[in-house]
Amino acid sequence: MKVLVVGSGGREHALAWGLTRSPSVSEVFVGPGNPGIKLPARTVALEASEPNAVVELANELDIDLVIVGPEVPLVNGVVDAVQASGRHAFGPTAAGARLEGSKAWMKEVLAGAGVPTAAHGSFTDAATAATFLNTLEGLYVVKTDGLAAGKGVLVTESEEEALLAVHDYLSGEAFGDAGRTVVIEEGLRGPELSLLVICNGDPDAAVALAPAQDFKRIHDLDHGPNTGGMGAYSPVPIVGPEMVSQVMATAVTPTLHSLAASGIEYRGVLYAGIMLTADGPKVLEYNVRFGDPECQAVVPRLTTDLGELCWASATGATLPEVKFRDEACVTVVLASENYPGSPRTGDVIEGLTAAQEVPDTAIFHAGTTLRVRDGALLTAGGRVLAVTAWGPQIADARSRAYECAKLISWPGVQYRTDIAQLAAKMPSAQF
Ligand SMILES: Nc1ncnc2c1ncn2[C@@H]1O[C@H](COP(=O)(O)OP(=O)(O)OP(=O)(O)O)[C@@H](O)[C@H]1O
Ligand SMILES: [Mg+2]
Repeated sequence: MKVLVVGSGGREHALAWGLTRSPSVSEVFVGPGNPGIKLPARTVALEASEPNAVVELANELDIDLVIVGPEVPLVNGVVDAVQASGRHAFGPTAAGARLEGSKAWMKEVLAGAGVPTAAHGSFTDAATAATFLNTLEGLYVVKTDGLAAGKGVLVTESEEEALLAVHDYLSGEAFGDAGRTVVIEEGLRGPELSLLVICNGDPDAAVALAPAQDFKRIHDLDHGPNTGGMGAYSPVPIVGPEMVSQVMATAVTPTLHSLAASGIEYRGVLYAGIMLTADGPKVLEYNVRFGDPECQAVVPRLTTDLGELCWASATGATLPEVKFRDEACVTVVLASENYPGSPRTGDVIEGLTAAQEVPDTAIFHAGTTLRVRDGALLTAGGRVLAVTAWGPQIADARSRAYECAKLISWPGVQYRTDIAQLAAKMPSAQF
């Protein structure tokens, strides 16, 4: 089968990596991809967020399965357009992608399905928002309703700061139209879990992938602003099969049933962002695609044919059993100076050749470009590289990932030094 992966980040690089290792897949194209994606996968120019452009490219290459990586093309209806053209696409239609495209709507779906989540209100008006903020105490959470590349969420103990954010969001200054509705939530506390669930349209047939945990804040010990994600690891010692079953039973399955009841046959990945609170697991959010960087820590562990899994999901066939290697994966994201603000770009990336020689690692590109004049690899975005390493235990994978990351440098490179640090100290991860 010929596959086209839509997108250009570390997640799409990892998907291409997994697909080139899938016996069911004969050819892998990534549009537009990035300079890290090498043969046997091939990159092709593409305006990834444009449904018609994706359809045209799929026709030109005679693609059997289009796999959509990022949320924006999904929200824009790339899957609808590909399906309308008579081809198969992995991912939800625009109607399903709204779960991620509108946090206010997602909260309505959760309420309708009786899924445990943080108390909240949605507002377009600052005065009413302020009144609601006043009823909360301790920890305030302000979110943009629309997409903001992981940067639209403020969690703060200061009501004043929360109020300022509400004004910045609603005015359109901070996030444009994405912020003109805000969702305000009570702050929950507890460790987080990212559960990526593969769906084939049948609410009772959804299958969870191995649990992962990501690191949203820019600095060590969860300090600083939220980012798209600074690292991830899998498996998660505190999350065993019972917890996965509980999240499926109390959150994912009821959500899929509720969507089905309103005519949305959800396919692709449903990513449940969960907080493990003292009152049990609660849904922080849904995303409608593989997490980035969770994908980079989960796909390398997968022994099931990734192409076959995506094909079954896209076509509504029975999903194959998902199996994972009994090895841990740790992913460390290397970011540019000033990320998640306006990142400094255009710097030469040094040390990649040496880093690539570290065994049991894969370096996924996220924001890189080649300099036309000499082919030098330059930084071209906030998150630049994702270094994944694997080993028998989390501690082994972790030390290998950092050994590899340390060899890579450019002016202002930043990465967290505490990815999977706590997990590495815990007794026996459950595979
Ligand atoms: N109600 C809450 N209480 C405490 N922390 C929260 C709450 N909601 C969100 N957070 C924190 O903010 C992070 C980002 O929130 P959320 O997942 O809703 O935003 P996002 O920008 O859509 O993230 P992503 O980039 O993963 O899609 C969460 O991972 C969590 O750390
Ligand atoms: Mg999200």
